[in-house]
Amino acid sequence: MSNILCIGAGYVGGPTMAIIAKNCPEHRITVVDINQERIDRWNSNDLPIYEPGLLEVVQQARGRNLFFHTDVAQATTDADIIFVSVNTPTKMFGEGAGKAADLQFWEKTARDILDNCRKPNVIVVEKSTLPVRTAEAMARILESGKSSTKFSVVSNPEFLAEGTAIEDLTTPDRVLIGGGQNETGRKAAETVAELYAHWVPRERILLTNVWSSELSKLVANAMLAQRISSVNSISALCERTEADIAEVSKAIGMDTRIGSKFLEASIGFGGSCFRKDILHLSYLCEYYGLPEVADYWASVVHINEWQTDRFFQSILHQLFNTLAGKAIALLGFAFKQDTGDTRDSPAIPLCEKLLGEHAKVRVHDPKALENARIDLKDMQGDVRFVEDVYEALDGAHAIALVTQWAEYRELDFERIYNKMVKPAFIFDGRNHLEHEKLFEIGFNVFPLGKPPLKHV
Ligand code: UDX
Ligand code: ADP
Repeated sequence: MSNILCIGAGYVGGPTMAIIAKNCPEHRITVVDINQERIDRWNSNDLPIYEPGLLEVVQQARGRNLFFHTDVAQATTDADIIFVSVNTPTKMFGEGAGKAADLQFWEKTARDILDNCRKPNVIVVEKSTLPVRTAEAMARILESGKSSTKFSVVSNPEFLAEGTAIEDLTTPDRVLIGGGQNETGRKAAETVAELYAHWVPRERILLTNVWSSELSKLVANAMLAQRISSVNSISALCERTEADIAEVSKAIGMDTRIGSKFLEASIGFGGSCFRKDILHLSYLCEYYGLPEVADYWASVVHINEWQTDRFFQSILHQLFNTLAGKAIALLGFAFKQDTGDTRDSPAIPLCEKLLGEHAKVRVHDPKALENARIDLKDMQGDVRFVEDVYEALDGAHAIALVTQWAEYRELDFERIYNKMVKPAFIFDGRNHLEHEKLFEIGFNVFPLGKPPLKHV
């Protein structure tokens, strides 16, 4: 039996530890966080994050071999394996501002570990997405003190996607574990591999060196995001021609060398990882004297911002180049369906641009209103957060669909149309709705990468 500790009870730490606790009942798993409110919610049935299936897993293990609290120092004392899952936002000051990772939380954690560990051998597992070579920096901090503990640092990036975290953790495509290339390093990586082997087939557990593991996480996210930016760039070309992006995506995705996933045009990708990781990658390339490679990856982010702006420009242009005093209803605010997370959601710049035009913004989202309020709290203008979707759409001039929640397909659009200002517009930022049907009801429909269906 081992004492496993996870520092950071966020979108990664919480679900990952819940799944480890469920599958490894002989180990004791403790999750700590400096945020008392977050921990209180992990100890209640109102979890701090919305993730389908998560509550059931937490309820199975909590109090048995899964514990949440805020005493980082005490929990570190008798830990054998420590997962570090604290946030590493993009640095907003000084050298590398806007691109590099802000490592202050991460370094504080390294020092907390050094000050408090008492076991003779401790494995520290990097779970946060970090710039390449930070495991090495972690090892140097841990070796710098007077501690009698022998530390081994292992990189084990997490590939779960929000909204499908439980499924992704239960049947991962692969588990990646990067360890030092000496005897101790290999043993540490093997110990972490044994944990996952409780439920993941051995052939899906990949052992690499530390730097390959760290870099693979950045590159996986950069390549997924690159596919979306590629498709989004082509959606613009489709709108100028008579091609249909859904047909193009399907046709290219059937080429097994390309594959069908991550080819859906959108208002722009969001989430806590893609933008941040591409900027890290680009910064890393710059740092290592590869400006062409840095520019190549940075362009994925540029196209993404351009796509969100293009969506906004289309709303402005179609509504006769003036939005002042017009009510625009946002269907969805989360960066994707099935999550309440709004980090880097394209809804945020969209709202900023709409409010900049003096539009009245009405926001609906089934799970993300709490976060949306925080995101928009400093924005000037007329913005309301509405829990009842029909109320949000009542009297609106236009609907902008941002998030592809399943329930939006089931709405009574006849009823909605009757309550909207005419001509009524729908801008479908996800190609999620039934466009022909909406057009027959009377809407002017603007999908992405397809010809618009217009009455006026
Ligand atoms: C991503 C990676 O998928 C995951 O492996 C990593 O661990 C964390 O980052 P996540 O950000 O949670 O996961 O969600 P993901 O499903 O990847 O979606 C990211 C964004 O891309 C969302 O805004 C989504 O709507 C958008 N997207 C996705 C598209 O616009 N088109 C697509 O075809 C797919
Ligand atoms: P992710 O999506 O990577 O999981 P989150 O922001 O959801 O990121 O979670 C990171 C968590 O780490 C937050 O709840 C934050 O309070 C916590 N955290 C940050 N620094 C520390 C620290 N030094 N000790 C403990 N927890 C920390």
